[in-house]
Amino acid sequence: MKGLILSGGHGTRLRPLTHTGPKQLIPVANKPVLFYAIEDLKEAGVTDIGLILGTNMPEKVKEAVGNGSEFGVNITYIMQGEPKGLAHAVAVAQDFVGEDPFIMYLGDNILKSGITEFVEGFEESDYQARILLQPVDNPRQFGVAELDDAGNVINLVEKPEHPKSDLALVGIYLFKSSIFDAISRIKPSWRGELEITDAIQELLNTELKVDSHIVKGWWKDTGKPEDVLDANHLILDVLESEDNGEVEEGAKISGRVYIGKGTIVKKNSVIRGPVTIGENCEIEAYIGPYTSIGDNSVIIGGEIESSIVVGDAVIKCNERIVDSLIGNHSHIESKENNLPKGHRFIIGENSMVHL
Ligand code: TTP
Repeated sequence: MKGLILSGGHGTRLRPLTHTGPKQLIPVANKPVLFYAIEDLKEAGVTDIGLILGTNMPEKVKEAVGNGSEFGVNITYIMQGEPKGLAHAVAVAQDFVGEDPFIMYLGDNILKSGITEFVEGFEESDYQARILLQPVDNPRQFGVAELDDAGNVINLVEKPEHPKSDLALVGIYLFKSSIFDAISRIKPSWRGELEITDAIQELLNTELKVDSHIVKGWWKDTGKPEDVLDANHLILDVLESEDNGEVEEGAKISGRVYIGKGTIVKKNSVIRGPVTIGENCEIEAYIGPYTSIGDNSVIIGGEIESSIVVGDAVIKCNERIVDSLIGNHSHIESKENNLPKGHRFIIGENSMVHL
């Protein structure tokens, strides 16, 4: 069994963070989203992994993942270029996949309990695809499956106006090499993409069998800022405490808190976990629950809660920052005079500021 992780795409919904790199490298609990997918595949015994790259700074993915040896896997990079759809990404990986069955994993998805249980029995079965599903409140926004009583898939519709079930497609799929033929027969959809749902529907149209598994633990597609924060929340819920830094006397730490090497937590700080703080940070502030602070950040004064600071940030202010996603090398500083209160911004295209 091989693995295929999709790390292309535009990431428009995560601008401006995706102006400086692909969304799959955005950290959740201080670890790039993409790394969770690699670890899940490795845990399921899949070590031969193709990594699909897009046009948005693919070299950053190569730099972060390397040849995969740090994860105990072998990575082969496959250039898709322009994102012409999930099925297009699969088609460009045909030489890599060959005749093997494979797992396709969207590089911006995170699954609580990994994928091991879903992989079992697929290779030796006569199913040509297996899809993972989860009930959702808003099926109109997803690919939706209709099943028979045995859990076999009868049909699939992308973002249906009148959904036949509430079972949404999770971004992890198992395929046999018959999917390549199916992809060669489909046409781009109204949005100009080769849709993987159309390719799976094409399998069904030719009487090939597709089964399904319902995902019971949580699943997050981190396509939008609020989803990234939700995922951070869910991962920090199972964080374990560890102190590799220096906590000055007088600093108050409660709950589960991870502190990285070289980080100093100064005496006036209050940290209420779950919180993870990376390496070489300087903290003298209130850090509230469900916050991840990336490496080399300086946070002095004020409060920050339920947020992600990607890293290399300087935050020196007396404000309360909540539910925020703060990109690399950001500076947030208070004025140091008594002039009437105002806000000064230097922010790029597609930024979002809530006052
Ligand atoms: P999406 O989130 O559907 O697409 P996107 O990355 O273009 O995001 P946005 O809508 O915000 O512009 O993609 C799901 C995953 O699949 C994501 O990890 C990116 C990846 N992908 C590819 O690798 N190639 C593709 O052609 C597409 C469409 C997505």
